[in-house]
Amino acid sequence: MSFTIIGTGKAVPEYVMPNDELSTMVETNDEWIRTRTGIEKRHICKSETITQLCVEAANNALENAGVKPEELDLIICSTMRGENITPSQGCMIQKEIGAACAAFDVNAACSGFIYALDIAAGFFARKAVKKVLIVSMDNLSNIIDWTDRSTCVLFGDGGAAAVLGEGDDLLSIHITAVGNDDAIRIPHGTNSSPFYEHEEERAVLHMAGNDVYKFATAAMANGIKKAVADAGLQQSDIDCVIPHQANIRIINTAAKNLDIPREKFFCNVQNYGNTSSGSVPIALDEANRTGVLKKGDLIAMCAFGGGLTTGSCVIRWNKD
Ligand code: UT7
Repeated sequence: MSFTIIGTGKAVPEYVMPNDELSTMVETNDEWIRTRTGIEKRHICKSETITQLCVEAANNALENAGVKPEELDLIICSTMRGENITPSQGCMIQKEIGAACAAFDVNAACSGFIYALDIAAGFFARKAVKKVLIVSMDNLSNIIDWTDRSTCVLFGDGGAAAVLGEGDDLLSIHITAVGNDDAIRIPHGTNSSPFYEHEEERAVLHMAGNDVYKFATAAMANGIKKAVADAGLQQSDIDCVIPHQANIRIINTAAKNLDIPREKFFCNVQNYGNTSSGSVPIALDEANRTGVLKKGDLIAMCAFGGGLTTGSCVIRWNKD
């Protein structure tokens, strides 16, 4: 037994920042951002905390699933940086929604949602759980360098949640990691020890964009190929691809290397930018709520990110 997805829900901050606003902060312009990334706008936290967004996404998913918080057996939150070092973001969600189950965090950067699905599958396989909540949320506006045009135009805040119930709709899943702190790195930045001998670094995102681009295009095509083959399917069987939304060019390049028509790739990077861990489940929630997904559809999901990590899977959509 694996699981079936019975509900989804998203939460993004209210404030929408269009590309033009960024051009008042760094030397960039709407045309460069659109043509090089596909991004038109992103949501940025002003008043919202990451906990508030996690709770909103969780409640939306629970409502969509028709599940009460007290029915949950496990909460997994994927995030790179929760509200506190401890308690975990998962525990903060548990407290705020009024659940009583175990809760913890997983940090796999943009691949976090798929890592969390794989972890959850293990709990279902040994029949330790009946209902699991996954919340994938990042608040990158707090940790990007707003003076660096090569990164600050790419990211946005937000995320989404999924409620899993018992079922057999995870057809394959594959996660990878290649330890690498040159391509993407966000240092902690703070150290209270008067004894520590290393220099403190600013806690902002550093990225070698071109290296990540090459990694990403290969990771997306290879990840989808493997997940589809492991599920015993042909690429032509896939009804919808939910790819990590980092750059429309990465999605277009991956699509060219697959036998899946480009129109089957669900894309919303234009509205959110790269929301890291939130990106795949936000897209899944939008596909769910806009009627793109039909009961019985075969969905391939794929993500890549800091670590460097990747995750890919095929699920059967079994929701009316
Ligand atoms: O979730 C995983 C995280 N990250 C990613 O997936 C990112 C993967 N990488 C990418 O998406 C792309 O590499 C970027 C969007 C980051 C960059 O696109 P690119 O087409 O590879 O541009 P580039 O870095 O080769 O830069 C081309 C030019 C440079 O100018 P010169 O040296 O040719 O004069 C940059 O300085 O564009 C310049 N540039 C900009 N110009 C206007 C870089 N950023 C900007 C900007 N506005 N924001």
